[in-house]
Amino acid sequence: MQIVHAGLGVPAQRGAAGLRCYTPARPAPRSRASRAARPGRSRWTIARPLPLIGLLLGAVVGGVALAGGLTRKGSPPPPVDPVAAAPVTAPPPPPAPALFSQPLPLHIDKVPEGLASISSQACTACHGGTHGAWEQSAHANAWNDADFQAAMARVGNATACRACHLPLTNQHAKLAAANHNNQIDRPELLPNPSWDPTLMREGVSCAACHVRDGLVIGPRAAPGAPHPVAASAELHSSELCATCHQLSWPEAKSAFYDTFGEWGRSAYAKSGVQCQDCHMPPKPTGSIGGRFAAEPDHSFAVPLEHGLSLYLSMPAAELQRGAPFAVSVRVLNSGAGHMIPTGSPYKVLVVHLELVGADGKVIDPGSSVRVGRTVTDAPPWDTVTDNRLAPGAELSLAHSFVVPQKLAAQTASLRVRVDRELVGGASGPKTVLTRAWPLPLL
Ligand code: HEC
Ligand code: HEC
Ligand code: HEC
Ligand code: HEC
Ligand code: HEC
Repeated sequence: MQIVHAGLGVPAQRGAAGLRCYTPARPAPRSRASRAARPGRSRWTIARPLPLIGLLLGAVVGGVALAGGLTRKGSPPPPVDPVAAAPVTAPPPPPAPALFSQPLPLHIDKVPEGLASISSQACTACHGGTHGAWEQSAHANAWNDADFQAAMARVGNATACRACHLPLTNQHAKLAAANHNNQIDRPELLPNPSWDPTLMREGVSCAACHVRDGLVIGPRAAPGAPHPVAASAELHSSELCATCHQLSWPEAKSAFYDTFGEWGRSAYAKSGVQCQDCHMPPKPTGSIGGRFAAEPDHSFAVPLEHGLSLYLSMPAAELQRGAPFAVSVRVLNSGAGHMIPTGSPYKVLVVHLELVGADGKVIDPGSSVRVGRTVTDAPPWDTVTDNRLAPGAELSLAHSFVVPQKLAAQTASLRVRVDRELVGGASGPKTVLTRAWPLPLL
């Protein structure tokens, strides 16, 4: 298959390539203040009763002072220690550079002071819990992933595919230096002297989101850290994720990856719920030296049942064996801030409504529906069909079943089973959600 090389990694051609990755409109998209003001997220709920407590304390202290003043009348005020009175000033934290000011892949050449390298392994000793969660994640396996490698092979190891799966230049054995005969779809690849195979294995590594200009970029200032930390509001924003989770190929009429766009059109975006709120909830960690018992979950995974609600409707409170009965199930996107499924257009969910026995074996396969997109099989892979579930949207699956006469009471169930598959992927379908309702048999 011939693919349009986007010329990623070729600074001179970036504009001409026409690849519409997401570029933030503002460098620091959300202010920390506005985020803190979000309902349910505020860490300052205690601040509200404070003025009242302050007033009461003031009255009590004032009363005591008045009483004390009466007995100690005429005594001079205690001497003021000039050293103790001097205000304690911490050095101002360094300003945070924008995380994705350049198109991917990014060049990082400065290792923050106090760190052995920018490899994720250099973080394990102190951020063990965070590292453990990340290690199991799709991000850590963005390069190793068998499905990714299979897809890469199909498109002739296209340079354009590497930009987000290997976001740092040191992860690339070869880099696009110039374009062959000035054709933007055929970048000339030259060996990269700063290629680091260790870092390549790490896919979307810690450094991709946390290291810039010799600084570790964190969600807040951390003066106790053994490495310089710059606080950045960008880490709290959906725009951070959009860098890689939003993509349109040149001349495309529809986005190829549209997770950020889907979120942007949803009620979640309007009420300020960011990707991180659902994908990085605080989890207890084993981190050494941390001031916090919990840190944002770096597995980034959210189970499908947090996104899908299943409502079954049964025709009667009691069912007769041998007699047909019609059931339906509503499948509702009640908890994902984007389409279900989102991301790759080759990702499909197959929802089955089936009749199963006590042993879980299928008695009647019932009916099923494929939920996903289809795209053209050549660049720019425009969307052809799309029956995915937008936030708040639902589909309904109905079937008429008959429970065989020979089955004993309470031994049959209706089951909804959701399988996930990647069209052309290295592995077959995988069951990601099941829910069963025992049948009220007479
Ligand atoms: C020798 C121990 C050590 C190593 C190694 C280390 N860190 Fe840290 N890091 C800390 C400590 C301690 C803090 C401060 C934690 C606090 O104040 O709660 C910190 C803070 C941070 C923060 C900011 C936390 C915040 O609250 O904003 C980030 C992000 C971070 N580290 C990332 C990294 C990354 C990425 C690496 C590897 C490239 C790394 N660290 C390596 C000890 C370490
Ligand atoms: C703009 C950044 C970007 C570019 C460029 C990109 N990808 Fe991806 N890729 C992603 C993101 C983000 C995901 C995860 C989204 C999802 O869940 O489907 C992903 C997921 C995938 C998956 C699915 C992995 C899985 O297990 O679900 C495959 C396969 C894949 N990409 C192949 C490719 C190929 C082949 C190319 C080049 C034609 C490419 N990617 C270019 C960002 C990118
Ligand atoms: C895909 C981007 C991404 C990757 C990869 C990533 N992080 Fe983070 N990290 C974040 C974001 C976003 C936050 C802030 C989340 C929030 O507060 O909403 C964060 C927060 C943190 C914090 C601050 C915790 C706190 O409560 O102050 C530490 C420490 C940290 N990350 C370390 C790491 C380490 C170590 C790795 C690699 C093992 C890593 N991160 C990989 C995006 C990433
Ligand atoms: C530097 C690029 C990059 C950034 C930034 C990034 N991601 Fe990803 N993300 C990827 C790639 C590439 C994959 C697909 C890995 C694979 O399976 O091949 C992925 C996969 C995922 C997956 C799992 C998808 C699956 O199919 O299992 C989730 C969830 C996810 N990202 C959420 C986020 C969130 C939330 C943020 C922002 C805090 C974020 N990502 C920031 C590149 C990125
Ligand atoms: C309201 C909560 C919520 C918000 C906000 C949200 N997500 Fe999700 N996300 C989910 C749920 C629930 C799922 C599981 C559904 C699924 O797997 O299809 C999911 C799935 C995903 C997946 C696919 C994982 C997989 O295994 O296929 C990716 C990629 C992803 N989210 C990225 C993002 C990004 C990027 C943003 C911000 C632009 C975001 N999400 C915002 C709840 C949310």
